[in-house]
Amino acid sequence: MKGLILSGGKGTRLYPLTYTRAKQLIPVANKPVLFRVIEAIRDAGITEIGVVIGDTGPEIKEAVGDGSQFGVEITYIPQDAPRGLGHAVKIAQDYIGAERFVMFLGDNVIQGGISALIRDFADHADWNSQIVLTAVDQPEQYGVAKLDDEGRIVRLVEKPKNPPSNLALVGIYMFDHHIFDATAQLKPSFRGELEITDAIQWLIENGYNVYPHVHQGWWIDTGAHAAMLDANSLVLEELTPEIAGQVDDTSEVDFRVTVEAGAEVINSVIRGPAIIGRNTRIVNSYIGPFTSIYHNVEVENSEIERSIVLEHSTIRDIPARIQDSLIGRHASVGINGLRPKAIKMHLGDHSHLELL
Ligand code: G1P
Repeated sequence: MKGLILSGGKGTRLYPLTYTRAKQLIPVANKPVLFRVIEAIRDAGITEIGVVIGDTGPEIKEAVGDGSQFGVEITYIPQDAPRGLGHAVKIAQDYIGAERFVMFLGDNVIQGGISALIRDFADHADWNSQIVLTAVDQPEQYGVAKLDDEGRIVRLVEKPKNPPSNLALVGIYMFDHHIFDATAQLKPSFRGELEITDAIQWLIENGYNVYPHVHQGWWIDTGAHAAMLDANSLVLEELTPEIAGQVDDTSEVDFRVTVEAGAEVINSVIRGPAIIGRNTRIVNSYIGPFTSIYHNVEVENSEIERSIVLEHSTIRDIPARIQDSLIGRHASVGINGLRPKAIKMHLGDHSHLELL
C-alpha cells in the first residue's frame, strides 16, 4: 500500500498564522500536524507516501524533506490550485499506479492512529474502498453518510443542507485503483471543486464495495483557531511526559509535563498536561494545563493557559492571564510602561486582540 497526504490549501481560517506558515506545519503538542500524519501512516507499515502540495509547497518540502527523518520515502505531487480532494486524487494517479492506498488530510488529527484501519482494509482484498465516519454536531459542514439498518452505506452527500445523519466523513480514506475511474467522471461541485465524496458515491452507484468504519474516539480537523487549540489539548493529554530540560528547585512542575532538552524552568509553576519546547525559558511564570510552548521562547513574569506559543516569541510582564490564544513566531507581547497609559500594536492582517 501507498500513502497520499493532502497538504495544499491556503488555511484562510487560520489567518494571520497561515500568512507566513503552511497550516499543516503548525505544531500541536510541539509537533507539526503534518509530521503526526506522516508518523501515523508510517506506524501502519506504509513507507511510500505522496504529498500533494500547493502554494506552500516550498515550505513543506523544506520541513519534510525526502522523508528519511521519518523512515519513509516522500514524493511531492504539485497541485496548481486548490481544486478539491477529488482533483488531488486524480493528479496522484501516476504516482499511485495500481496500488491500494490510504489518503489522509494533512491537517487532521485522529485518536489512536490508523494502523487498525489499514490492517482491516489490507485483510479484505475485495473491498474497493473504506471510509471513516464519526458523529459530529454540525454535519452540514462535512461530507455526510446515510447508513442502512445493517450499517451499510446507502448514500454520501457533500455539505448537505438537510443532513441525512450526523455521521461525517473523516479526512481518512482507503481506495483501490477503481477510484481513478470515479475521479475521471467528476464535475465541479457547487463550490467549484472536484469532491472526493462524489467520487465515492460513484463507486457505490456502480456496484463497488465501499465499507464504513465508524470511529469512536476523537478526531479534529485543525483548520480553525478553536479546533487547533482543541487538538492541542487532546494530544497533550496523550503525551508521555518527560523532563529532559532543567527545572530549578523553586519551581513546581506537575507530573503530566514535558520539558524538552535545553529548556529551563526557573521559579515557575507548570500544571500539565503541558509541554515546554527546546531551549525555551520560563521564568517567574505560571504555565497552565493544555499549553504548548514551542522552541526558543521566553516567558517571564506571565501566566499562560490553554494556548499555543510558536518559536522565537517573547512574553514578558503581562498582568493578566493569557488564555485560549495562538501566538505566532517571533511575536513579542509585553508592557511598555508609557505615561499616559497607551497600548501599542503592530498586528498583522486578520490579527485578533481581546483586551481586559
Ligand atoms: C473535506 C471533505 C468532507 C470531509 C472533510 C473532513 O471538507 O470534502 O467530505 O467531511 O474534508 O475534514 P473540506 O475541508 O474541504 O470542507
